[in-house]
Amino acid sequence: METLNGMETSNKFCIIGGSGFYDFLEEPSKISITTPFDSKPVTIYQQEFEEKILFFLPRHGGLHNIPPHKINFKANIYALHSLAIPKVIATSAVGSLRPLINPGDYVLLDQFIDFVRPITFFDGDFSVEFQKGITKSGVVHLDMSEPYCPEIRKILSEVLKDDHDTHTAGTYATTMGPRFETPAEIKALQQMGADVVGMTNSSEAILCRELGICYGVLAVVTNMAAGLQKQLSHSEVLDIFNSRAASLKQIFHDVITQLPEQRNCTCAWYLQK
Ligand code: HPA
Repeated sequence: METLNGMETSNKFCIIGGSGFYDFLEEPSKISITTPFDSKPVTIYQQEFEEKILFFLPRHGGLHNIPPHKINFKANIYALHSLAIPKVIATSAVGSLRPLINPGDYVLLDQFIDFVRPITFFDGDFSVEFQKGITKSGVVHLDMSEPYCPEIRKILSEVLKDDHDTHTAGTYATTMGPRFETPAEIKALQQMGADVVGMTNSSEAILCRELGICYGVLAVVTNMAAGLQKQLSHSEVLDIFNSRAASLKQIFHDVITQLPEQRNCTCAWYLQK
């Protein structure tokens, strides 16, 4: 049995909802988790489903009232760790940098480019205990060769194998937000090798990896990036996402029923050292 903080983990699973995806569970109970990283508790929703406990965390708050630069990523991810949640899939609204990736398509991210903000739990005085009593503290330089959980990505691509609008790999570039990018910034990101752009995702991927949580992403393309379409608007992002909400729920249910109880990936390997 896999445990974390002395709690069983194998039956737990969390969805993090991005822009336009604010509810996932039908009859959830609301829980508040206090963390060392915020005076306000993190609100998470919880429900049992086919002998699993599902959690849902709306990244921008239930009413989209937290902009990207104000999201307390550390509090959010630490709250998942406190609940001993071993696996997370996030949704992420992205702009496309490539003519073959269109609004409405899904992208299963496998790499990111993030030079915008340093983020880590290990600021020097943080210490955290993992399964088997292993403690990590001090300065941690994390391996990011495989930034997203390969097992979650594989199951997502199996579930979506008949969906012709799914791209099974893609590089995400993180920008600061909350403004959209300039066309010149998008050109620079294209030349660096990015396929899609967004404002949040890599921070979660980094922090989840630091705490040994498997993290996968289903990115939803909501627009062509700046310079590739006439203008960008937040309402367009929300409209596309809303039109995908029902199918996202179905995809996540399918993925959850296929996830193996034990992890068979390398996401927590550095914790064993
Ligand atoms: N840029 C940044 N973030 C986004 C975009 C975009 O074009 N679309 C959705 N989120």
